[in-house]
Amino acid sequence: MENKCKEILEIEHVTNRYRDSGAGFFSKDKMTRVLNDVSLTIHRDEIFGLVGESGCGKSTLGKAVLGMIPFDGEIRVAGMKYSRNNRKEFTRSVQAVFQDPLSALNPRRTIAQTMEEPLLAHGMGTKESRRQKVIEMLKLVGLDESYADRLPRELSGGQRQRVCIGAALMIDPELVIADEATSALDVSVGAQILNLFQEIHDRKDFAMLFISHNLNVVYYLCDRIAVMYRGSIVEQGDAESLYNNPLHPYTRMLLSAIPEIEKADELSRYAFTETRRESVPDGCDFYHRCPYATDACRTWPELKNVLSPGEKGEHFVRCHNPVRDGKAPEAPDEG
Ligand SMILES: Nc1ncnc2c1ncn2[C@@H]1O[C@H](COP(=O)(O)OP(=O)(O)O)[C@@H](O)[C@H]1O
Ligand SMILES: [Mg+2]
Repeated sequence: MENKCKEILEIEHVTNRYRDSGAGFFSKDKMTRVLNDVSLTIHRDEIFGLVGESGCGKSTLGKAVLGMIPFDGEIRVAGMKYSRNNRKEFTRSVQAVFQDPLSALNPRRTIAQTMEEPLLAHGMGTKESRRQKVIEMLKLVGLDESYADRLPRELSGGQRQRVCIGAALMIDPELVIADEATSALDVSVGAQILNLFQEIHDRKDFAMLFISHNLNVVYYLCDRIAVMYRGSIVEQGDAESLYNNPLHPYTRMLLSAIPEIEKADELSRYAFTETRRESVPDGCDFYHRCPYATDACRTWPELKNVLSPGEKGEHFVRCHNPVRDGKAPEAPDEG
């Protein structure tokens, strides 16, 4: 694209609903809201982490970006909105790596055939140049030429995920979405794949939306992080700032759920998992689980910038009663 827009991914006020599977035939209008007014921007060449518990809507957002599901709001990749007419151009800009490499690979096709596919789909290269590119990509993901003519079942889980990463990069996309790309792998293999993402990102020009339920993993890899809870972004900021100075009670809960991290005792003192009170329909989504909720939390909090004007970087939180100066707010007395 000639006029390169600055931001590779622009998500504006995206809301998505799924039809309730529990609803009966006659209540077919019953919908569950999964994404709630999500807006975020990913800069060129950065790695942006999206983290939150399972079921909060991370994959749904990824699918919306890939043009796989309908949604309200607007998403632009490299300045382009997905439509049936520009599907080809659009998929040149954004590619994805998913959790399960085995189901992503056709068991009857060789690694080379699978990796060549995006080039063929876009009518790129000659037979020789495609083969060359496959070998180049295999090397990039740490596999030698001999893997080209093997079948997926001859590879380990980690090797298969390397192939999927190589395949995603075959047409030099500007944005890669990695959705729980290390979550199905053994811890040590997952760590190798994380390092691989880091290495490749250092050597090639692309931005990444890295989706994971694990804040530790996201912190390791990402420049900026957004924390999602029930389909809303509740905190967003530079990785260092968010990880070392989490402001939303939910982010602190995610951190205290990571056993190996040594945070102040204060972090783990609260029994976050217990439902403390009723939900409030128009209030903060975290109200019923939050140890610090006050009456103010019965209204919906906006995502607010917490940095003072001169401060570098970014840090936003959607909370009426956030943590300040590293200290949790006073929990209100409940008689
Ligand atoms: N195709 C679908 N139809 C109905 N509900 C869905 C569908 N896909 C996801 N959901 C629901 O949307 C919510 C978010 O799912 P998902 O985006 O996969 O979460 P995450 O990736 O954060 O684990 C979940 O409650 C899930 O049950
Ligand atoms: Mg998911």
